[in-house]
Amino acid sequence: MKKQALIQNDKALENLKEDFHFEALKCIPKPLLTWYDENKRTLPWREDASPYRVWVSEIMLQQTRVEAVKPYYERFMKALPDIAALAAAQEETLLKLWEGLGYYNRVRNLQKAARMIMERHAGEMPADYDALLALPGIGNYTAGAIASIAFGIPKPAVDGNVLRVLSRIRTDDRCISEEKVRRAVEAELEAAMPKDRPGDFNQAMMEIGACVCVPNGQPHCEECPLEGICRARSQGKELSYPIKEGKKARKPEEKTVLLVRDEGRVALRKRPAKGLLAGMYEFPCLPGMISSDEVVRFLLENGMKVLRIQPLGEAKHIFTHKEWHMQGFMVKVDELERGKSGEGIRDWIYIEPEETREKYPIPSAYEFYAKTLAMLRGKDLMLEDERK
Ligand code: ADE
Repeated sequence: MKKQALIQNDKALENLKEDFHFEALKCIPKPLLTWYDENKRTLPWREDASPYRVWVSEIMLQQTRVEAVKPYYERFMKALPDIAALAAAQEETLLKLWEGLGYYNRVRNLQKAARMIMERHAGEMPADYDALLALPGIGNYTAGAIASIAFGIPKPAVDGNVLRVLSRIRTDDRCISEEKVRRAVEAELEAAMPKDRPGDFNQAMMEIGACVCVPNGQPHCEECPLEGICRARSQGKELSYPIKEGKKARKPEEKTVLLVRDEGRVALRKRPAKGLLAGMYEFPCLPGMISSDEVVRFLLENGMKVLRIQPLGEAKHIFTHKEWHMQGFMVKVDELERGKSGEGIRDWIYIEPEETREKYPIPSAYEFYAKTLAMLRGKDLMLEDERK
């Protein structure tokens, strides 16, 4: 075949592929919404879908499963029932309400946005996609979710779940980690989504992704209303999609965690205002996996006498980009000269372990060590209430 004819063939094939990609999307809404009407979960933010409630739920649901979010959500709504209350809250109250959910910048941005809404939108969530997008912490996904669920605006809400579902249905060879692919899928979905039930459509897509077309392991295709139109299913290639870029390896970081006890109290320090776990409280740590002798020497150099030191075992915590590999020591001390403590311990505060029930947000990374002191965090109490 001549070169020109080959090029034309390629183009025709490309057009066919595009047509298929679009036509497949048009087949989704009907069976999906029928399935959703029969199978949707009863969730607190669906019962009363006010803009504020939808917004908070969507921020909490980023990176966290529905079941884990529920108790946090109820408690947050009770403590801060409206945008004005959120805008006026103390930072430590916010962090305490978020303690255990991780990604603490999400709640800081939530508050920044609440303050902006108070100033620029008279305390009302704007019923406009672009105005939502202009708020801190609100990207295309969240703006689409709020616009569609709370205001009935036909905008898509494309997250990792939705990308996976669509990639499988269409055996889409584009890499979903690429921003330009996400944007293209958004545009495709916006053109094909039903204009009369955009909020239900978006939630149904999320629900299929979370409950049926699951990310890890075999999807439950036999329960899927889209099984008949799914190319990956018909080709037995469910697990070959979506195409994703290989993740970068996380950086390991070793640290020695000190539970320093002075009579009944325990030492904590506040993390810096910027960076990982900003503004949260932690047990003091020393870099590396160091020996008990080195810990004792460090404390002595900083004006403390060690009465007893005892190993507490190892723990690991995984963040998005790094991993903490920790070992811990319980150290009973006698502060020799209060007020004359060394530079290395100047920012330590001593609290009663009980106080962490209400104050001092402590990240989950330290959960293993907090438990050795029976230190209950706000999160543990809330989960205890749930079980009652
Ligand atoms: N995940 C993210 N948003 C959700 C929602 N509104 N319902 C269920 N799962 C979700």
